[in-house]
Amino acid sequence: MTKTFISHTAMAHTRWATHGQPSNRNCHPHRSDENNEFTVVHNGIITNFKEIRMVLEKKGFVFESDTDTECVAKLAKYLYDQGKGKLSFTALVKAVIKELEGAFALIFKSTKFPNELVATRRGSPLLIGVKTDKKLKVDFVDVEFGADAEKISEEADAYLASDKTHPKMRRTQSRAFLSDDGQPQPIEYYLASDASAIIEHTKRVLYLEDDDIAHISEGELHIHRLRRDDGVSSQRSIMTLEMELAQVMKGQFKHYMQKEIFEQPESVVNTMRGRVNFNTHSITLGGLKAYLSTIRRCRRIVFVACGTSYHSALATRAIFEELTEIPVSVELASDFLDRRCPIFRDDVCVFVSQSGETADTILALRYCLERGALCLGVTNTVGSTISRETHCGVHINAGPEIGVASTKAYTSQYIALAMMAIQLGEDRVSMTARRAEIIDGLHELPRHIKEILATDADLRQLAQDVLFGQKSLLIMGRGYQNATCLEGALKIKEVSYMHSEGILAGELKHGPLALIDETMPVILIMTKDSLYPKVQSAYEQVTARMGRPIIIANTGDENVAKNPCHKIWVPQTVDCLQGLLTIIPLQLISYHLAVLGGVDVDCPRNLAKSVTVE
Ligand code: G6P
Repeated sequence: MTKTFISHTAMAHTRWATHGQPSNRNCHPHRSDENNEFTVVHNGIITNFKEIRMVLEKKGFVFESDTDTECVAKLAKYLYDQGKGKLSFTALVKAVIKELEGAFALIFKSTKFPNELVATRRGSPLLIGVKTDKKLKVDFVDVEFGADAEKISEEADAYLASDKTHPKMRRTQSRAFLSDDGQPQPIEYYLASDASAIIEHTKRVLYLEDDDIAHISEGELHIHRLRRDDGVSSQRSIMTLEMELAQVMKGQFKHYMQKEIFEQPESVVNTMRGRVNFNTHSITLGGLKAYLSTIRRCRRIVFVACGTSYHSALATRAIFEELTEIPVSVELASDFLDRRCPIFRDDVCVFVSQSGETADTILALRYCLERGALCLGVTNTVGSTISRETHCGVHINAGPEIGVASTKAYTSQYIALAMMAIQLGEDRVSMTARRAEIIDGLHELPRHIKEILATDADLRQLAQDVLFGQKSLLIMGRGYQNATCLEGALKIKEVSYMHSEGILAGELKHGPLALIDETMPVILIMTKDSLYPKVQSAYEQVTARMGRPIIIANTGDENVAKNPCHKIWVPQTVDCLQGLLTIIPLQLISYHLAVLGGVDVDCPRNLAKSVTVE
């Protein structure tokens, strides 16, 4: 059959710098030589780049950047020349990645293979969007395995050229995107790390697995693998994303962060939708159903996460302990790995991650899988590595989060984890009333969040009059509010670049009190729960040292109302859900401080939404 495709390929990349300063010189793509024979974009870190660079420099290659990526482009040229130009594009990429250590999602383009692209991943996410006017006729793409990758590829290419079917290759996918009459149809492929980057073009995506090598040429997509029989499934399903373009557009808001903060009355409902029965006070998380009794029998629950996701686990630890009576620990993924924490078969490990792609969390997951623990994922991204590699889990359904600083994902993670604790504790009759009280609290949440969002103008004023221009800010509280303090401080430093620290009020006299004077800004969270008297005593300790805290208190607290200090009011809810409300004014304050400071709110310097490197 004669092929009539006219193909165009292009690639670009914005990236969180791992090697070398962000500068034109270090920008992607990187190239093999001044004729651009091989060009590469890369997400991840090549850990053995120095060794490869040294070898290539000895062979006469002159490097143009400080990046790890450049060695990949130059290695491709070196191996291609070594092979006397006989290697196919996929065989060449296989040969290249065999030499690489670390994590990568790579896309290769070459003047030697015009209008073709080869993409591959190991440890970093990569997906392919497929757009065609015709309905796709298959939902699966078969993988081509190769025992001797280079040999198979060369043979395969020869067979393809003669249009025969190679005995070791399944070619179903090569016809998958042709119309009924066998004629090629216009087809576009989009490669990206994250689905929100391509949603405006297509909703049909295929997630690549580690060591998949995708070759796009002549309108066809072929997926090869580095090794045969490595236990990886031989099919990649093409999924339809449920995300809508409107969800990833800013609409009436100036920034995604602002939009996402204001979306919370709806996003929290989406997390609960179809899972909470407010009449019978029961919760059903479909993703956990088959594992409930195993989880209830476990020796302990270990939460592992990074950044904001870590804070959501901290915020709900007490609910888990109270409702399930199972010991709980909460671990930062990087530290968990550094310590090589002991993990056993009767542990349940819960990996919390908005993106489902955070490298440290994924590595911790694989570490726990190897040790036979039951692994659960709590993510916002269907199809992400964490949701695919865990045994079971819960999607938080908060909708795409674009702003680098996580806001609505935090509240949705918090709710998803609280729901999980309630469902796990359902076998404890003595806790029936407590569970019902929390579920009633969940019911009121959207209304309570709206009330706080309505005070946005006041919070903006407070940020401008009292906090903007200050060097530092301490946020204090205790008990359920400890996580709010840490998360609020993280928000403020992430987007406003102001130093901010979350302090457990119980630790005040063990050091932080030394920072207090009449000039140090302090926010104190003093909501009505069993620890109220203790927080009041922290207030006394601060004011006795001339500190003038801004108090976050429950609406109607007369004791605080009488106080001449600045106040932020939040509605009162069940103690263990109060953190869902106290965090919102802090999200808004951090947003306003960022805008006042002229910061690029959605992309603060040096940070990335999803940190896919260790
Ligand atoms: C990055 C983001 C944070 C996020 C953290 C964990 O640092 O900037 O907002 O909390 O990664 O990400 P995850 O996707 O695993 O929740």
